[in-house]
Amino acid sequence: MNHLAVIMDGNGRWAEKRHLPRLMGHRAGAEALDRCMHYCKAAGIRYLTVYAFSTENWKRSQEEVSGLMKLLSSYISSKEKTLVKEGVRFRVIGRRSDLSEKLQKEIAALEEKTKAGDFTLIVALSYGGRDEIVRAALRFAEEYGRNSSFIAQHASLEAAFGSFLDAPDVPDPDLIIRTSGECRTSNFLLWESAYSEYYFTDALWPDFDQAEFDKALESYSKRERRMGGRLK
Ligand code: IPE
Ligand code: IPE
Ligand code: MG
Repeated sequence: MNHLAVIMDGNGRWAEKRHLPRLMGHRAGAEALDRCMHYCKAAGIRYLTVYAFSTENWKRSQEEVSGLMKLLSSYISSKEKTLVKEGVRFRVIGRRSDLSEKLQKEIAALEEKTKAGDFTLIVALSYGGRDEIVRAALRFAEEYGRNSSFIAQHASLEAAFGSFLDAPDVPDPDLIIRTSGECRTSNFLLWESAYSEYYFTDALWPDFDQAEFDKALESYSKRERRMGGRLK
């Protein structure tokens, strides 16, 4: 497996079960992300994409939204050294312009500092699959108006369109895990997941451990990916 994607869900419920503020659940979720990154590296996975904040999550209370933004900002500043040392390339997909200018700058600086890493962590922030497609469509149309012959430089019309997505060089996810028992995509990687396998677990994201990771990979290893063709 080359690319694992995770819908990190259940932080709030994890905290509520312990009578803690929801933000404590998000903090525990950030720790689970660090663990998951290590499991991926040990398993030889090269790309990990995580859903950290959706275009719909802005609907949450101002307290939760600002707490999450602060957590992101402190994650970025506290992890810089470790990410560089561990060869992790940090990238963000989503509608960056929704984020504060300060956070946008912190993100851009971390992307620059970690760009030599050979393991890629992609964080989906103010991300929506529909939004990503619509933004790509606008840029595609703009380019088409300027010079329609650029399409011929790509293998297909889909590849030409795909080049306007947020991380066009990243291969599609092989497996998408969603924690917390919800069986929906909630607007995650709509274009890229066309042939991804899905794995759902009841575990809440802060409880996601090596055993959960192994179960997901074990399930994935038994899938027969036909991609619309026939293997035999
Ligand atoms: C996922 O956990 C993290 C974000 C959406 C930011 P939730 O906050 O959705 O946790 P639950 O689903 O309420 O338990
Ligand atoms: C999806 O979780 C988004 C993230 C994990 C960041 P939500 O908790 O926002 O999704 P719904 O509301 O249950 O669909
Ligand atoms: Mg949730």
